[in-house]
Amino acid sequence: DLMPTVTFLPGYRKVTVPEGTSLLDAARAAGLAMNVVCGGQGKCGKCLVFIKSGNVSFEREKFRKFFSDPEIARGACLACQATVLGDVLVDVPEGSLIQEQKILVEIPGREEIPLNPAVRKYEVYLSPPSLDDTTPDLTRLLEGVEAVGGPPPNRVYAPLGVLRYLPQVLRRSDWHVTATVALVPGGYRLSSVDKGDTTGRVYGAAVDLGTTTVVVYLWSLVDGQILSTASNYNRQISCGEDILSRVNFSRKGGLARLQHLAAESINEALKSAADAAGIDLEEVFEVMVAGNTVMTHLFLGIDPGYMIAEPYIPVVQRMLSTAARRVGIATHENTGIYTFPAVSNFIGGDVIADILATGMTEREEVTLLIDIGTNFEAVLGNRDWMLSCSGAAGPALEGGEVLFGMRANPGAIESIQIDPATLTPTYTTINSIAAPRGICGSGLVDLVAELLRACVIDRTGGINLEIDHPRIRKGRYAPEFVVAWKEETQIGKDIVITENDIKNLIMSKAAIHGACMTLLDAAGLTARDIERVCLSGAFGNYINKENAITIGLIPDVPLERVENIGNGAITGANIALVNRKRRKELDGLARKITYIELNADPSFMDRYTSSCFLPHTDLSLFPRVQ
Ligand code: FES
Repeated sequence: DLMPTVTFLPGYRKVTVPEGTSLLDAARAAGLAMNVVCGGQGKCGKCLVFIKSGNVSFEREKFRKFFSDPEIARGACLACQATVLGDVLVDVPEGSLIQEQKILVEIPGREEIPLNPAVRKYEVYLSPPSLDDTTPDLTRLLEGVEAVGGPPPNRVYAPLGVLRYLPQVLRRSDWHVTATVALVPGGYRLSSVDKGDTTGRVYGAAVDLGTTTVVVYLWSLVDGQILSTASNYNRQISCGEDILSRVNFSRKGGLARLQHLAAESINEALKSAADAAGIDLEEVFEVMVAGNTVMTHLFLGIDPGYMIAEPYIPVVQRMLSTAARRVGIATHENTGIYTFPAVSNFIGGDVIADILATGMTEREEVTLLIDIGTNFEAVLGNRDWMLSCSGAAGPALEGGEVLFGMRANPGAIESIQIDPATLTPTYTTINSIAAPRGICGSGLVDLVAELLRACVIDRTGGINLEIDHPRIRKGRYAPEFVVAWKEETQIGKDIVITENDIKNLIMSKAAIHGACMTLLDAAGLTARDIERVCLSGAFGNYINKENAITIGLIPDVPLERVENIGNGAITGANIALVNRKRRKELDGLARKITYIELNADPSFMDRYTSSCFLPHTDLSLFPRVQ
């Protein structure tokens, strides 16, 4: 028998095979992984190779439709349909080999991570059944999927809905279909079977389900591109502004309504994102939702009522997954919905997402993460250990309980400087709407820092009425400083900050700083050991870092170590959506984080009281300010 040698370019891999062997088998023998979508039936045209020289038998005219003219000229043939007749030199184009997917995804604001989605599509050309081959449709499909790199058939669960249309779709598409397979807890799910080749369209959505706002990012999971983003209000606001009032609403029989409103808020954002991207929501196969513990309960329709009364018990903390239609999300019916795990009632999925966004789970250096709002959360640690705590900061940093405070909306003063000689403020407003209406959190932080520098206030926040200046006056309620004269404003009133406002702000910042000190002490560290301070949330985005240190809101670290991570919840959700390995680690991460109950920690009150100064009673903690 003749044993011709087959040489494959570009690597000059050689094999000797018996005459009559198919080129495809020869390629396999040479260790090349060819992209055999139809399993060697001559139906997909994916096993294209070029014969440089030598002797093969191949019916070129029969497969003419797979080749362009230039390809014909180069000696195109289908490896599965060509047999070796003598020594031959074959060129294998890169496109005919199975590509190790090495796509790197750019997560906005973070480092690149590998694309490794939990949902994949497999295009298959199945051989039709016959009296000699009576394999059932599902087995036939799953074996085909396995042959092109899919999971073993016995690990794949097939929902009833798919089985009901499977026989028709296989036959109507002449056995050329695309199967969508998702990695789910405990195995895989056959989410969909579609006619022909739909491998270019696999989408996923990351959702930040906030108490006030819902943000959606729509991704292509084929190439790791963001297609569009959208946001809108959380419609649960109609049932209560804050978390507590929504839990109370739910306890009075409103749980189903809150669940519905959460789903609708997400659906609306998904719809606008899908319209903007020009895609069909039916092709969104995964949705990753990051929300705090109460929001997650409400979204899933799980009673959060036992969390707000002693002994404060949530129903679940682990990561959950469910099918879209069970929670009313308007995507494909078998779309997997995942919610982030939580550490406690207060360190919820949004904070876990923040942690993911900081990258602190991979670093040896110590990071301090602070999410500032009416409630704050703080996490200290690195890849080996993490401590967390949370508390009420009060509304002052979001503009509440401050006479002219307002949320960070257009017309809010967001940054301020004060000339120490003339005490004249210069300010900017959000969206540069010239005439201000009030002051938002970042503006208030600036204001307190600048007033302290200009010696208008002392370290307790008291306004020095001895200074003879038209902007400093007694005020109706308390001593006050005029930030903007009424002619400059939109509201026809002087915008002032009062001594009471300043004291409210000091209490807010003291709660946060006291919490940071509690975490540092518990870890046996000082501010000097912190490699990075990451500020999350809308507030962190606009805050002046130096001023935040000047008033003692955050520990005194070199400015370049303070980083605003923006909306960490959506960043974390994006990461968990595109990389299934990171997602898998989340439950373990949540369990690893130690929660420190500040109310049960007697030293927290001392730390809080010591922080009720600008910046602190112990100035050695703030060398910069000293
Ligand atoms: Fe499909 Fe060769 S493997 S045509």
